[in-house]
Amino acid sequence: MATATPTKGERTSIARPSAQATATGVKVDAPSRREFMYYIWGASMALLLGEVTAGLIWFVFPRFKAGEFGGTFDYAGDVIPEAGSAPQWFPDGRFHISNTEAGLLALYGVCTHLGCLPKWVGSNNRFECPCHGSKYNIDGTWIEGPAPRGLDRFMVTITYGDGEIVSTDKDAGGAPIRLDPNKAVQSIAVNTGDKVSGPGH
Ligand code: FES
Repeated sequence: MATATPTKGERTSIARPSAQATATGVKVDAPSRREFMYYIWGASMALLLGEVTAGLIWFVFPRFKAGEFGGTFDYAGDVIPEAGSAPQWFPDGRFHISNTEAGLLALYGVCTHLGCLPKWVGSNNRFECPCHGSKYNIDGTWIEGPAPRGLDRFMVTITYGDGEIVSTDKDAGGAPIRLDPNKAVQSIAVNTGDKVSGPGH
């Protein structure tokens, strides 16, 4: 059947739903107070779950691998220098292992003044910073110069041959680990991601 095409000037009428149809066709109820509280509770639980999951991932997958600065360095016990002898420098981890009369420390090899690298000077039995002359004892304590404190310390874990494990006491300011002279150290781990500020002066 042919459809009449409106000629120029004729008005076309487009069918629109009546206001009443629009008003009655779709009815949207506002959420009740109880539903609204459920939504808030659900969102809070989802957020909490997300935070716990992120924390677990952070814990299970550490940011730094073993053997890279920021992570843990593991060595056999024979890397530890004799008590009172020159500290041993570990450039990859940027620390010195220093075996003092009071015990063992891992000293961060960066000057606490402006970040230069103090060197062990055996003839003077101390660390000396080449930049502005700060000096430190074998245990990293400050002697003189503009450095505001002694060398910082990394957390150390010692494992003896019999399985006993001892670690740096963080609460004691990273005090030296007193080694048991009657036991052989099987391994030493230095955690360069866990640092204690050097002692003040
Ligand atoms: S950076 Fe070591 S004394 Fe200034």
